[in-house]
Amino acid sequence: MHALIIVAHPDSASLTHQVATHLAEGVSGTAHSSEIADIAAEGFDPRFNAGDLAAFRVDAPISADILAEQARVERADSLVLVYPVYWWSMPGLLKGWIDRVFTNGWAYDDRQGPKVVKKLGHLPVHLVAIGAADLRTHARRGYFAAMRTQIDQGIFDFCGAPVLTSELLIVTEAADVAPNLKTARDIGGKLFAAADRN
Ligand SMILES: Cc1cc2nc3c(=O)[nH]c(=O)nc-3n(C[C@H](O)[C@H](O)[C@H](O)COP(=O)(O)O)c2cc1C
Repeated sequence: MHALIIVAHPDSASLTHQVATHLAEGVSGTAHSSEIADIAAEGFDPRFNAGDLAAFRVDAPISADILAEQARVERADSLVLVYPVYWWSMPGLLKGWIDRVFTNGWAYDDRQGPKVVKKLGHLPVHLVAIGAADLRTHARRGYFAAMRTQIDQGIFDFCGAPVLTSELLIVTEAADVAPNLKTARDIGGKLFAAADRN
Protein backbone atom coordinates (compact mmCIF):
# COMPACT_ATOMS: atom_id res chain seq x y z
CA MET A 1 0.00 0.00 0.00
CA HIS A 2 1.10 3.56 -0.59
CA ALA A 3 0.92 6.71 1.53
CA LEU A 4 0.87 10.28 0.25
CA ILE A 5 2.53 12.56 2.80
CA ILE A 6 1.63 16.22 2.25
CA VAL A 7 4.03 18.65 3.92
CA ALA A 8 3.19 22.33 4.21
CA HIS A 9 6.27 24.25 5.35
CA PRO A 10 8.51 26.63 3.37
CA ASP A 11 11.79 25.46 4.97
CA SER A 12 13.02 22.03 3.94
CA ALA A 13 15.33 22.00 7.00
CA SER A 14 12.44 22.60 9.42
CA LEU A 15 11.33 20.16 12.08
CA THR A 16 8.11 19.75 10.09
CA HIS A 17 10.09 18.37 7.14
CA GLN A 18 12.20 16.20 9.46
CA VAL A 19 9.00 14.77 10.93
CA ALA A 20 7.71 13.99 7.42
CA THR A 21 11.00 12.33 6.46
CA HIS A 22 11.08 10.20 9.61
CA LEU A 23 7.47 9.23 9.10
CA ALA A 24 8.32 8.14 5.53
CA GLU A 25 11.28 6.15 6.85
CA GLY A 26 8.92 4.44 9.28
CA VAL A 27 6.72 3.42 6.34
CA SER A 28 9.70 2.15 4.35
CA GLY A 29 10.56 -0.19 7.24
CA THR A 30 7.31 -2.03 6.48
CA ALA A 31 6.06 -3.76 3.36
CA HIS A 32 4.55 -0.45 2.21
CA SER A 33 5.70 2.69 0.41
CA SER A 34 5.21 6.46 0.60
CA GLU A 35 5.96 9.68 -1.21
CA ILE A 36 6.40 13.16 0.22
CA ALA A 37 4.60 16.01 -1.54
CA ASP A 38 6.24 19.28 -0.53
CA ILE A 39 3.46 21.62 -1.61
CA ALA A 40 5.49 24.72 -0.69
CA ALA A 41 8.44 23.73 -2.91
CA GLU A 42 6.03 22.64 -5.65
CA GLY A 43 4.55 26.14 -5.61
CA PHE A 44 0.98 25.06 -5.01
CA ASP A 45 -1.26 28.13 -5.23
CA PRO A 46 -3.61 28.01 -2.22
CA ARG A 47 -5.84 30.83 -3.40
CA PHE A 48 -9.39 29.66 -4.11
CA ASN A 49 -9.90 31.46 -7.40
CA ALA A 50 -12.73 32.40 -9.77
CA GLY A 51 -12.23 29.17 -11.73
CA ASP A 52 -12.54 27.12 -8.52
CA LEU A 53 -15.72 28.99 -7.65
CA ALA A 54 -17.16 28.38 -11.14
CA ALA A 55 -16.41 24.66 -10.76
CA PHE A 56 -18.00 24.70 -7.29
CA ARG A 57 -21.11 26.21 -8.88
CA VAL A 58 -20.94 23.56 -11.63
CA ASP A 59 -20.52 26.29 -14.26
CA ALA A 60 -17.04 25.12 -15.30
CA PRO A 61 -14.79 22.03 -15.23
CA ILE A 62 -12.27 21.54 -12.45
CA SER A 63 -8.89 23.01 -13.45
CA ALA A 64 -6.00 20.78 -14.52
CA ASP A 65 -3.82 21.56 -11.49
CA ILE A 66 -6.57 20.44 -9.13
CA LEU A 67 -7.34 17.31 -11.17
CA ALA A 68 -3.65 16.42 -10.87
CA GLU A 69 -3.77 16.87 -7.07
CA GLN A 70 -6.89 14.71 -6.85
CA ALA A 71 -5.25 12.03 -9.03
CA ARG A 72 -2.25 12.04 -6.69
CA VAL A 73 -4.54 11.46 -3.70
CA GLU A 74 -6.44 8.75 -5.63
CA ARG A 75 -3.19 6.86 -6.27
CA ALA A 76 -2.63 6.65 -2.50
CA ASP A 77 -4.17 4.28 0.03
CA SER A 78 -3.58 6.68 2.90
CA LEU A 79 -3.23 10.45 3.23
CA VAL A 80 -0.85 11.97 5.78
CA LEU A 81 -0.75 15.70 6.53
CA VAL A 82 2.32 17.07 8.34
CA TYR A 83 2.17 20.76 9.21
CA PRO A 84 3.16 23.41 11.74
CA VAL A 85 0.44 24.93 13.92
CA TYR A 86 -0.13 28.49 12.73
CA TRP A 87 -2.60 30.50 14.77
CA TRP A 88 -4.03 27.34 16.34
CA SER A 89 -4.84 25.76 13.02
CA MET A 90 -3.17 24.52 9.85
CA PRO A 91 -1.11 26.94 7.71
CA GLY A 92 -2.95 28.87 5.00
CA LEU A 93 -1.04 26.90 2.35
CA LEU A 94 -2.54 23.62 3.54
CA LYS A 95 -5.99 25.09 4.19
CA GLY A 96 -5.95 26.39 0.61
CA TRP A 97 -4.92 22.93 -0.61
CA ILE A 98 -8.01 21.51 1.13
CA ASP A 99 -10.23 24.36 -0.11
CA ARG A 100 -9.20 23.76 -3.71
CA VAL A 101 -8.62 19.98 -3.88
CA PHE A 102 -11.52 18.70 -1.77
CA THR A 103 -14.12 19.68 -4.32
CA ASN A 104 -17.85 19.12 -4.23
CA GLY A 105 -18.45 15.93 -6.23
CA TRP A 106 -15.00 14.50 -5.42
CA ALA A 107 -14.60 14.74 -1.62
CA TYR A 108 -18.32 14.97 -0.86
CA ASP A 109 -21.46 15.55 -2.85
CA ASP A 110 -24.29 17.80 -1.71
CA ARG A 111 -25.95 17.89 -5.11
CA GLN A 112 -27.66 14.50 -4.97
CA GLY A 113 -30.45 15.46 -2.56
CA PRO A 114 -30.86 16.74 0.97
CA LYS A 115 -28.17 14.44 2.39
CA VAL A 116 -24.47 15.08 1.86
CA VAL A 117 -22.78 12.03 0.30
CA LYS A 118 -19.38 11.36 1.94
CA LYS A 119 -17.03 10.26 -0.83
CA LEU A 120 -13.70 9.61 0.91
CA GLY A 121 -14.65 6.66 3.12
CA HIS A 122 -11.90 4.60 1.47
CA LEU A 123 -9.12 7.04 2.47
CA PRO A 124 -7.60 6.73 5.96
CA VAL A 125 -6.08 10.01 7.15
CA HIS A 126 -3.20 10.67 9.54
CA LEU A 127 -2.69 14.17 10.93
CA VAL A 128 0.58 15.30 12.49
CA ALA A 129 0.63 18.90 13.70
CA ILE A 130 3.73 20.52 15.20
CA GLY A 131 3.24 23.38 17.65
CA ALA A 132 5.45 25.49 19.88
CA ALA A 133 3.10 26.15 22.80
CA ASP A 134 3.11 23.53 25.55
CA LEU A 135 0.37 20.95 26.00
CA ARG A 136 -0.95 22.76 29.11
CA THR A 137 -1.67 25.86 27.04
CA HIS A 138 -3.31 23.77 24.35
CA ALA A 139 -5.46 22.00 26.96
CA ARG A 140 -6.29 25.07 29.06
CA ARG A 141 -7.46 27.08 26.07
CA GLY A 142 -8.97 24.13 24.24
CA TYR A 143 -6.86 24.85 21.17
CA PHE A 144 -6.10 21.24 20.25
CA ALA A 145 -9.72 20.24 20.83
CA ALA A 146 -10.74 23.11 18.54
CA MET A 147 -8.33 21.89 15.87
CA ARG A 148 -9.79 18.40 16.10
CA THR A 149 -13.31 19.75 15.77
CA GLN A 150 -12.40 21.90 12.80
CA ILE A 151 -9.97 19.61 10.97
CA ASP A 152 -10.69 16.00 11.99
CA GLN A 153 -14.46 16.39 12.06
CA GLY A 154 -15.16 19.51 10.03
CA ILE A 155 -13.05 18.46 7.06
CA PHE A 156 -12.35 14.73 7.11
CA ASP A 157 -15.40 13.31 8.86
CA PHE A 158 -17.53 15.57 6.66
CA CYS A 159 -16.03 13.68 3.67
CA GLY A 160 -16.21 10.29 5.42
CA ALA A 161 -12.41 9.85 5.61
CA PRO A 162 -11.51 8.05 8.86
CA VAL A 163 -8.86 9.92 10.88
CA LEU A 164 -6.65 7.13 12.28
CA THR A 165 -3.95 9.39 13.75
CA SER A 166 -4.35 12.88 15.15
CA GLU A 167 -1.13 13.87 16.85
CA LEU A 168 0.18 17.15 18.21
CA LEU A 169 3.96 17.22 18.59
CA ILE A 170 5.37 19.98 20.76
CA VAL A 171 8.67 21.60 19.86
CA THR A 172 10.54 23.98 22.15
CA GLU A 173 13.91 25.57 21.51
CA ALA A 174 15.47 23.85 24.50
CA ALA A 175 13.93 20.43 24.02
CA ASP A 176 15.50 17.50 22.27
CA VAL A 177 13.69 16.80 19.00
CA ALA A 178 14.61 13.10 19.05
CA PRO A 179 11.42 11.96 20.85
CA ASN A 180 9.27 13.77 18.26
CA LEU A 181 11.20 12.17 15.41
CA LYS A 182 10.79 8.76 17.05
CA THR A 183 7.04 9.39 17.33
CA ALA A 184 6.97 10.27 13.63
CA ARG A 185 8.87 7.09 12.73
CA ASP A 186 6.49 5.03 14.90
CA ILE A 187 3.45 6.59 13.19
CA GLY A 188 4.97 5.65 9.82
CA GLY A 189 5.71 2.12 10.99
CA LYS A 190 2.10 1.63 12.06
CA LEU A 191 0.44 3.50 9.20
CA PHE A 192 -0.91 0.38 7.55
CA ALA A 193 -1.07 -1.80 10.68
CA ALA A 194 -4.86 -2.08 10.53
CA ALA A 195 -4.73 -3.17 6.88
CA ASP A 196 -1.94 -5.66 7.66
CA ARG A 197 -4.09 -7.30 10.34
CA ASN A 198 -6.92 -7.97 7.84
C1 LIG B 1 2.80 32.40 11.56
C2 LIG B 1 3.05 31.48 12.71
C3 LIG B 1 2.02 31.20 13.60
C4 LIG B 1 2.22 30.32 14.66
N1 LIG B 1 1.18 30.03 15.48
C5 LIG B 1 1.35 29.11 16.47
C6 LIG B 1 0.26 28.76 17.29
O1 LIG B 1 -0.85 29.25 17.16
N2 LIG B 1 0.47 27.82 18.25
C7 LIG B 1 1.68 27.21 18.42
O2 LIG B 1 1.80 26.35 19.30
N3 LIG B 1 2.73 27.53 17.65
C8 LIG B 1 2.60 28.46 16.67
N4 LIG B 1 3.65 28.79 15.87
C9 LIG B 1 4.92 28.08 16.05
C10 LIG B 1 5.04 26.94 15.04
O3 LIG B 1 4.05 25.98 15.20
C11 LIG B 1 6.43 26.35 15.22
O4 LIG B 1 7.34 27.35 14.89
C12 LIG B 1 6.70 25.21 14.35
O5 LIG B 1 5.82 24.16 14.50
C13 LIG B 1 8.12 24.76 14.68
O6 LIG B 1 8.51 23.81 13.79
P1 LIG B 1 9.29 24.11 12.42
O7 LIG B 1 10.76 24.02 12.73
O8 LIG B 1 8.84 22.98 11.56
O9 LIG B 1 8.87 25.49 11.95
C14 LIG B 1 3.49 29.70 14.84
C15 LIG B 1 4.53 30.01 13.94
C16 LIG B 1 4.32 30.87 12.90
C17 LIG B 1 5.46 31.16 11.95
